[in-house]
Amino acid sequence: MTDSKNKPPIGLSRQLVSYGDKAFSLYMRRSFASSMGYLPETLSKPVVGIANSASGFNNCHRHFPELLEAVKRGVLQAGGLPIDFPTVSLGEAFLNPTSLMFRNLMAMDVEEMVRAQPMDSVVLMGGCDKTVPAQLMGAVSANLPAIYLVGGPMMTGRHKGERLGACTDCRRFWASYRAGKVSDAEIHQVEGRLATTAGTCAVMGTASTMACITETLGMMLPGTAAIPAVHADRLRAAEATGIAAVRLAQTRITPDRIVTRKSVENAVRVLMALGGSTNAVIHLTAVAGRAGIDIPLTWLNELSDSTPVLVNLKPTGSNYMEDFYAAGGMSGVLRELKPLLHLDCLTVTGETLGERMAADADVYIDPAVIRPTQDPIEPVGGLVALFGSLAPQGAIFKRSAADKALFESEGRAVVFSSLDDLAARIDDPNLDVNANDILVLQNAGPTSGTGMPEAGYLPIPGKLARAGVKDIVRISDARMSGTAFGSIVLHVTPESAAGGPLALVHSGDRIRLSIKERRLDLLVDEAELKRRRAAWELQAKQRSQPQRGYAQLYQEHVLQADKGCDFDFLRAAGR
Ligand code: FES
Repeated sequence: MTDSKNKPPIGLSRQLVSYGDKAFSLYMRRSFASSMGYLPETLSKPVVGIANSASGFNNCHRHFPELLEAVKRGVLQAGGLPIDFPTVSLGEAFLNPTSLMFRNLMAMDVEEMVRAQPMDSVVLMGGCDKTVPAQLMGAVSANLPAIYLVGGPMMTGRHKGERLGACTDCRRFWASYRAGKVSDAEIHQVEGRLATTAGTCAVMGTASTMACITETLGMMLPGTAAIPAVHADRLRAAEATGIAAVRLAQTRITPDRIVTRKSVENAVRVLMALGGSTNAVIHLTAVAGRAGIDIPLTWLNELSDSTPVLVNLKPTGSNYMEDFYAAGGMSGVLRELKPLLHLDCLTVTGETLGERMAADADVYIDPAVIRPTQDPIEPVGGLVALFGSLAPQGAIFKRSAADKALFESEGRAVVFSSLDDLAARIDDPNLDVNANDILVLQNAGPTSGTGMPEAGYLPIPGKLARAGVKDIVRISDARMSGTAFGSIVLHVTPESAAGGPLALVHSGDRIRLSIKERRLDLLVDEAELKRRRAAWELQAKQRSQPQRGYAQLYQEHVLQADKGCDFDFLRAAGR
């Protein structure tokens, strides 16, 4: 591997350790690499790094050892040297206080390891909710040729003749259990039937939404976002990804050429057409922010109002990801959306989106799962941004997963000041609440100390659930799982812990929600709000802050939801 003076270094000769003697650095590196049993000619090949986020704490990635072997097979077959390395892994159900808090940590890990280690291109292996955005954020910042391979969704389980899929059905059964309609014995039985294979959640939750968005952006091989985790096609996709990564090392197509304003617009359109996860707004904003692209919420509304919901999948519809794959997957969605898309966007294969779509123009589409644009599930997109005196910088509402009867509501606020307060009182039989009230949760945003958990899906108060109430307006600065549903206003910005108006709401105040007008207003006069603000500021000064480590870094640098909750020092300055 002797590089001529005019050629950029490849493979192991990239990113040498700084000893002040490059020839010695390379000599020593090759010597140490030889200790792993490689032949000298193997060490002269282009290196494909494989960022592997497998972990014993991540059930969604438990099949990664087999996928990794398939990626390596592809790399070797195409003449490259595959070298895998571990990164932070974020298993959604295994992180306290919440995985979002560690997304930026994983993004930093990926960025720095991709940049520091000698590789010509990198395969990003992830899937569970936060791993995809974290790896994309890191890869966009490192700007080395990168290609994504998701783990793919789980298959459904069975219970009493019906199909079950994590995690929309987790919530459905839990709500029935809370309402006294499911016994202790049955809820335990269901617990073992919700998540029965390797892979990510079986519905159009955050993981699947992010997988589809990644394919739309052009960072993944065509047609691979929705392949089930345990399907042989998933292994074939892994092998093909390894081959493509070697080609990418030669073509040197970097993420800055793929993640552009046009491809981000395509991704927002797809998010709307999928009726996708609210979390994807935060994640896509963070990924685009790394490329210097803003996603103002007003732009989101424009795109939402001109993009139909096409995909009939839980939590907004009735099918699962395995059905989506069989129904045509992303190739089907892109074909239906074609007139709305920028077709000249470059992808990892070197083709444009339009060329990729022409190549699979004859894909079978099942209209029961992927509807034609002329006969959509909804004529407008699944998500909408709201503004008003309660959310000056915006809030998100998933209209495709909400009860339309509550779209135009005015009600009395029932306030919970924290997650602990919510847990302590939501099922209190003496809670003063009725079905027309609006539940408000404060102090669950990015800087609240809770890490902005998926607590925005406030449970229906026990006594209302038992009385048959299925939906109620809920407002918070928290997030909601992509697998959840209901009339839920999320990501209220600025958050209450940062002094947003949400912090000033008292029980008994009137709140007005209008989806038609895109408004969320607190109907309290200015003088009263001024008085409350003075009291809030006194309290805020006494709040303790983390004094060390990652928690301190997070607290000091995390941005609000409208900036994707990225760290201020990691966003690009703008392109
Ligand atoms: Fe990993 Fe749902 S828990 S995708």
